[in-house]
Amino acid sequence: MQISFSRKTKMFRLDTQNSTYAMMIGHGGELRHLYYGASIADDDITAFAHRRDRAFSPYPEGLTSEESLNIACLEYSTFGNGDFHNTAAALRKQNGTAVTSAVYKTHTITKGKAPLPGLPASFAPEKQVQTLEITLTDTFSGALIVLRYSIFDDSDVIARSVKIVNKSKETIRIEKLMSAQLDFDSMQYDMVYLQGKWARERHAMRTPLQPGMQGFRSARGSSGHQYNPGVVLASKNATEQQGEVYGMLLLYSGSYAVEVEADEYESTRAMIGINRETFSWTLEKGAEFNSPEALIMFSANGFSGLSAQSHAFLTDHVIRSPWKHVKRPILVNNWEATYFDFTDSKIYDLAKSASKLGIEMLVLDDGWFGERNGDNSSLGDWFVNKKKVGDLGRLVARINKLGMKFGLWFEPEMISEISELYKTHPEWVLSVPGGKRSLGRNQMVLDMSRGEVVDYLFEAIAGILRSANIEYIKWDMNRNLTEIHSSALPPEQQGEVAHRYVLGVYELHERLLNEFPNLLIEGCSGGGGRFDAGMLYYVPQIWCSDDTDAIERVSIQLGTSLFYPSATMGAHVSVCPNHQTHRSVSFQFRGDVALAGTFGYELDVTRLDKEDQQMIREQVARYHKYNDLIREGTFHRITEGFGHGDIAAWCWVSADRKEALVTAVRKFDSPCAQSPVFRLRIPGLDAARKYTIENGGAFHGSTLMNAGINVSNDLRGNAVSALYHLKAK
Ligand code: GLA
Repeated sequence: MQISFSRKTKMFRLDTQNSTYAMMIGHGGELRHLYYGASIADDDITAFAHRRDRAFSPYPEGLTSEESLNIACLEYSTFGNGDFHNTAAALRKQNGTAVTSAVYKTHTITKGKAPLPGLPASFAPEKQVQTLEITLTDTFSGALIVLRYSIFDDSDVIARSVKIVNKSKETIRIEKLMSAQLDFDSMQYDMVYLQGKWARERHAMRTPLQPGMQGFRSARGSSGHQYNPGVVLASKNATEQQGEVYGMLLLYSGSYAVEVEADEYESTRAMIGINRETFSWTLEKGAEFNSPEALIMFSANGFSGLSAQSHAFLTDHVIRSPWKHVKRPILVNNWEATYFDFTDSKIYDLAKSASKLGIEMLVLDDGWFGERNGDNSSLGDWFVNKKKVGDLGRLVARINKLGMKFGLWFEPEMISEISELYKTHPEWVLSVPGGKRSLGRNQMVLDMSRGEVVDYLFEAIAGILRSANIEYIKWDMNRNLTEIHSSALPPEQQGEVAHRYVLGVYELHERLLNEFPNLLIEGCSGGGGRFDAGMLYYVPQIWCSDDTDAIERVSIQLGTSLFYPSATMGAHVSVCPNHQTHRSVSFQFRGDVALAGTFGYELDVTRLDKEDQQMIREQVARYHKYNDLIREGTFHRITEGFGHGDIAAWCWVSADRKEALVTAVRKFDSPCAQSPVFRLRIPGLDAARKYTIENGGAFHGSTLMNAGINVSNDLRGNAVSALYHLKAK
């Protein structure tokens, strides 16, 4: 790991374990991007900045036409001064102009990495991380644009963020501020991204870049079910194990944009950051603003190589929870067992039956508070409904006596019109004065930009947590933001509300974790509607999807694994016919798919027949046997296509490569679908070691990696799965 600057060539280089990132200061002070990819040795690659001029490409006074910003690869391009592409930043001045320049002023290279105030950010001990800060000036205002890059001694991931310091003599308005830009001299890439909807989140898509603008975004006030705030640009020949792939991932849980532009010269610009549609920020003289952090990453070893980097980085440098390296308690959640219709004795009975099967935690879902017996009331009234639950402390104590932990559901950011909270504080709702409001699931959204709302929620939730031994909470968010307007802010600051909302959510997390550092929080948003790296800074796991159908889950979980580790994915076995797809599949198949995340159950355990009870006992034993490997091992997708095909397989390999667990599934069978021998090549093993496959022979790593194992006999029929446990001496 090394960041260096050559005074002679004016070139910066950032060297991680296996990659080099290079840029230089051009003659006009503009920052030119030179290279990002596999490690290179030479210190002077500034020749990459030399260009052939092109018509209709203006150039700054004092520079030549070859130095036009419009034909350059730039490090961080600003609006309106000679680069006609989609640009990364626009600062509006008092004179009305949003024209912004970015001219080199100074830089520092330091050990360590400072936190980002109020925002999630990667971290590492000071000795293990170096930070480059390049300060640029907007010559039209005097404001400073500070680009920050941090590299880590154990990773190829680079953390980037941008800070604006208003050194001008006036108030300026930030109209756009992307967290990271990556320019490429080619458009020979495929864009891979995660697309979805409620109950079908994060399916991986792969599409060739086309000339013009492409990308995706959220304007929902949260990252959303529809797209995920991350993107991969992959060389055309990239597969799971081979080929060059670049990733960008945003640590942010609000409205974001991924903007990719392939231009007329077949160059590409990719950017990630806050979505400007719902953002502007008034920056007083002397004030600062920090963009969310973006991670950029490169792998020469295909998609699985990139995923392994992202997983390790998020685990080591983003997720803070003390739970991240701990086997999570196997939980049973009452939602699909009872929905709103329960009493304390039903919950106790669930816990009792569950405890006999080896389940370790009972999670009481929606409906325990206020007068909530349906989805039309009581959000915001975070006090126990004694009629349903009795004394919560007593219920929890009884459940603890069974040897089980207790967890509780909250939806902190919401308010029902029928609630005590709404009677006292109608002004706490996000809404435009005098206008109609939109409802979602009958509820409205609290104005989390208001400090007193965060205070109220903190006291209400902490009060409940102090009153009983609650060791887990599920933090839900069941609708998106509309009429984003705060009655607490003046007109010129209304563009800040969406971002301030996210900051409010983060602050509430921070305050709760401060008082309850060991609390296990599972993020959730109508399933996986807010599954992002920003959230993972506060919570170690997120409910992947309300869809627990194991066939559907294969593509949801394999898509999610593009960036996110197995240990972050909430995955449970639920009842059949499945409540979302009405499909029935075997208990074993449901268990094998749920094993690939944090494990649990989402069904009425008091009503199971003997056979299913026995299955649970076996699955619980399997979870205890394999979870260390699943949580800590290196994950590989074995089949191509991120789970979209009929057969999918994946594996985890331990750090010492002595152990691996392979899961193979077939969703649907059809006659003669595959060749008579269907082999899976197992990546990531040690070629020289000999592995024993539980119930099936012994082979060298070289054989397993190159020739593979024959799974044809194990994958017959619909919705079938097989596990292969490999162990070497
Ligand atoms: C969301 C969650 C579910 C459940 C319900 C409760 O939809 O994803 O798991 O908690 O809310 O209302």
